Amino acid sequence: MIRSRFSPVRIDPAPSFRGRFHLPGDKSLSHRAAILGGMAEGETRIHNFASAADCASTLLCLRALGVPVERNGNEVLIGGRGVDAWQAPAGPLDAGNSGSTLRMLAGALAGRPFRSILTGDESLCRRPVERLAVPLRLMGATAASTDGKPPLTIDGGRLRALTYDSPVASAQVKTAVLLAGLQAEGTTTVREPAPSRDHTERMLPLFGVPVERSGLAVSVRGVARLRGAELTVPGDASSAAFPVVAALILPDSEVRLDGVLLSPGRAAFLEVLKAMGAQVESGLTSTEPEPVGWIAARSSRLRGIVVDPGVVPALIDEVPALAVAAAFAEGTFAVSGAAELRVKESDRIAALAEGLTRMGASIEEREDGFVIHGLRPLHGASVRSLGDHRIAMALAVAALAARGPTEIEEAECASVSFPEFYDLLARGTGRA
Ligand code: S3P
Repeated sequence: MIRSRFSPVRIDPAPSFRGRFHLPGDKSLSHRAAILGGMAEGETRIHNFASAADCASTLLCLRALGVPVERNGNEVLIGGRGVDAWQAPAGPLDAGNSGSTLRMLAGALAGRPFRSILTGDESLCRRPVERLAVPLRLMGATAASTDGKPPLTIDGGRLRALTYDSPVASAQVKTAVLLAGLQAEGTTTVREPAPSRDHTERMLPLFGVPVERSGLAVSVRGVARLRGAELTVPGDASSAAFPVVAALILPDSEVRLDGVLLSPGRAAFLEVLKAMGAQVESGLTSTEPEPVGWIAARSSRLRGIVVDPGVVPALIDEVPALAVAAAFAEGTFAVSGAAELRVKESDRIAALAEGLTRMGASIEEREDGFVIHGLRPLHGASVRSLGDHRIAMALAVAALAARGPTEIEEAECASVSFPEFYDLLARGTGRA
C-alpha cells in the first residue's frame, strides 16, 4: 500500500461561520515580485509576501540562480544585481508543486546564456509546458520538454523580439514571453484570446519598465533594465473564495475580509456569486498598482446560473469554491469553457465530481466543465484531494455544511497556497 504524504484531516459540520480576517499575501503577486526583484538591479523589499509553499519554491529557485534572497517571515529582501548576474544552477531547479514558478522562470531563463533544467513534483511533471516552450523557441531559445511536460531543459541566450498570438488565455504563458521579451532587442507583444490576470503588466512599471497595452495585447521593449522596488502584497484573492463560500452556505454566518486583492482578473468570482443571489459586497480602499479592498459575505439563499465562458479565465482558480456554492444553490449551475481545469494541480473537473458525488451532490462532468443540480443534501464522506490544494479546501468548506464528519485525504496540501486555512476554519467555526 502506498502511504500518502499527508495524513487525512477530519472536518466536522459547523453551525455557522463568522469572523473578520486578513489573508496572507497573494500568491500570484508574490511570485512576480520575487522574480522581477531577482531580475532587477538594487534592493527589492516585499512586505506581506505569501506564506504559500509555492512562493517558497520561487525563492528557492532564485537562490539556486545566485540571487541573494533574505526572508524573515512575510518580509522578503532581494539583493538584485540584475539578470546578467544570474548563474547557471548547480542542479535542476525544483519548482515543487508550483506551475507559476516553473513557467514564469522559464521565460526569464530563456535569455540567460546557460542551461537550466526546470522540474517539480509528480503533479507538476504531469502538466503541460509546450504552451510556453513554443514561443520561447520562436524567440531563439532551445527548450526541450519531456513529452510536452517537465522536466523542461532550457538553453538560453540571445533572444529576438516576438509578436505572439497565444492560443490559450494564460497569464503564466504571457508572463514567460514578457520576461523573455525584456531580454530581447525590440518590442515583444503577447496577444491573448481572452483576458487573463494582468499582474505582470501592472507590476513592471514599479520596477521602472514601461508597458504598452491595447485591447488583449501587451508589449514591452527590450533590452530593459529593471530597478529594485518596494511593494506590499495584498491578501490572496483566491484564498478569499473559501471563507466567502463558507459564510454563504452556512446559516447565521457573516465574514469580512480586509486588505484583499480585488483586481478584475481575480475578483470575477464575486460577480458570479452575486448573480447566484449571494449577499456579498466588496469595496476598494486603494487602486494602485492593484485594486485592493474588503469583501463582506453573509448566509444567503443561492440559485444556480450558467457561467459565461468568457469570464472563466478570470475565475479559473475559484471554480472549486464556486462548485461548492453551486451544490448549495437551488436549480442548475453550469460551467463550460473551462478545459484548463483538467490540467491544473489535478484534473479539477474529475476531482470535484468525485469528491462532491461521494458527499451526495449531483454533478455531471463535461469535457470542459460541469453541471451541478443543487440542494441535494450533502453528507460527510471519505474524500480525496488528489494532492490538490484547492480541491482539499473546497471539500473542507463543503464538509462544514454536510451532515456528519468528512475525512479528506492529503488535506495538508492546502499549504501549497494557504497554510493557515485550517486555522482559519477553526476560528470561523468558533473551534479555535
Ligand atoms: C496564474 C495563472 C493561472 C492560474 C494560476 C496562477 C498566475 O494559470 O490558474 O493558479 O499567477 O499567472 P494559467 O496561466 O495556466 O492560466
